[in-house]
Amino acid sequence: MTERINELIAEVEAFSSRAAGEIEDFRIRMLGRKGRVTELMEEFKTVAPEMKRTLGQKLNELKTKAQQRINDLKATAGTSTAKIPAAGDMTRPGKGAAEPTGSRHPISLVRNEIVGIFDRMGYTVAEGPEIEDDRHVFTALNFAPEHPARDMQDTFFIEKNPDVLLRTHTSSIQVRVMETQEPPIRVICPGRVFRNEAISYRAHCIFHQVEGLYIDEGVSFADLKQTLLHFAREMFGAETKIRLRPSYFPFTEPSAEMDVSCALCGGKGCPVCKGTGWLEIMGCGMVDPNVLEACGIDNKKYTGFAFGMGIERIAMLKYGVGDLRLYFENDVRFLHQFAAAL
Ligand code: DAH
Repeated sequence: MTERINELIAEVEAFSSRAAGEIEDFRIRMLGRKGRVTELMEEFKTVAPEMKRTLGQKLNELKTKAQQRINDLKATAGTSTAKIPAAGDMTRPGKGAAEPTGSRHPISLVRNEIVGIFDRMGYTVAEGPEIEDDRHVFTALNFAPEHPARDMQDTFFIEKNPDVLLRTHTSSIQVRVMETQEPPIRVICPGRVFRNEAISYRAHCIFHQVEGLYIDEGVSFADLKQTLLHFAREMFGAETKIRLRPSYFPFTEPSAEMDVSCALCGGKGCPVCKGTGWLEIMGCGMVDPNVLEACGIDNKKYTGFAFGMGIERIAMLKYGVGDLRLYFENDVRFLHQFAAAL
C-alpha cells in the first residue's frame, strides 16, 4: 500500500494543466467518490492496527497534496489550454528584449563623472537645500545689497518674502559647509539651481551646477590651476589645455574664467568653439577674505579656492547636444541614446 501511495504522490506532483476540464477530470480521478485516493481510504479501514499510524500519515499527505495541487492549478486555469510541464523547459532562452532596460540621464552621467574625478583627489560630496535664504545665496557670498543678481529678473522668490528663494547657484552650499566645518575643507557640491530665464535652446529656468571648495593653510592660486588642469584632462582627455582669463565674482578675489581647448578641432577652430579653439566651462578664484569672515573662518590663517561649473554645458560639449531643452523633456528617444554609457 505504501508503494501505491508513493506512486500517486508522484503522479499528483507531475500533473499540470491550464484547462479547467482536465483539472476537474483529474480531481474526480483522484478525490471523487470512486477516485483512487478515496479507494485507498476505504482500504485503509481494513489495515492491521500496528500499520495504521504510518500509513495514515502517508495517506493524509497524499490527500492534502492532491487537494493543494488542484487548487493551485484551478487558480491559473483558463489562461491557456496548452499543457505545460511541471517544471517548464529550463533550456529555453530568456525573454530578454521583452523587458526594456532603462538608461541613466546624461546629466547624472556627467555629474557622476565630475564627482568621481574630485573624489579621487580627496574631495567629499556636500549637498544643501534648493529653497534657500538671502544670506546663503547672496549676503555671505559678499554680494553688495544693490547687486543686480538679486534682481527679481534672475531670482525666484517664494510667497513675496525676499528671504525665501530658490538658490540661483550652488555656491550657497559652500557657505553652509564653511559655517559648520573646520578647515581643512575639501568639498564638491552638485545640485539643481533655478533662475528666472525664458526657456530657449540655450537657457532654462532649471539647470545643474557643481561647486568646488578647498580651504586650508597656504592654499594658493597655483593649487587652483593645477587642480583644474588635472580635472580638465580627466574629463576631456590627456591632451587638453586650459586657459584662465581674469573675471569678476563677488565671492572670489582674484577671479577667473576657465576655458578648455576644444576637443573637437584640437584647438584649430570650428563651429562648436566658434573658431576660437577654446570653450568656456567654469568660473573660479581665490575665496574672498570677506566670505571666509562671514562664514566664521579665520581669514588670517586660512586661504582657499572655489570653482563652479554648469553640468548641462559640460554634457553638451561631451555629447554634442545642441538644445538644452532636451535634458528636461524626458523624451525616451533622446534618453535611450545614453543606454550604453552607464
Ligand atoms: N556661482 C557662479 C555662477 O553661478 C559660478 C562660480 C564662479 C562659482 C566662481 C564659484 C566661483 O565657486 O569661484 O555663475
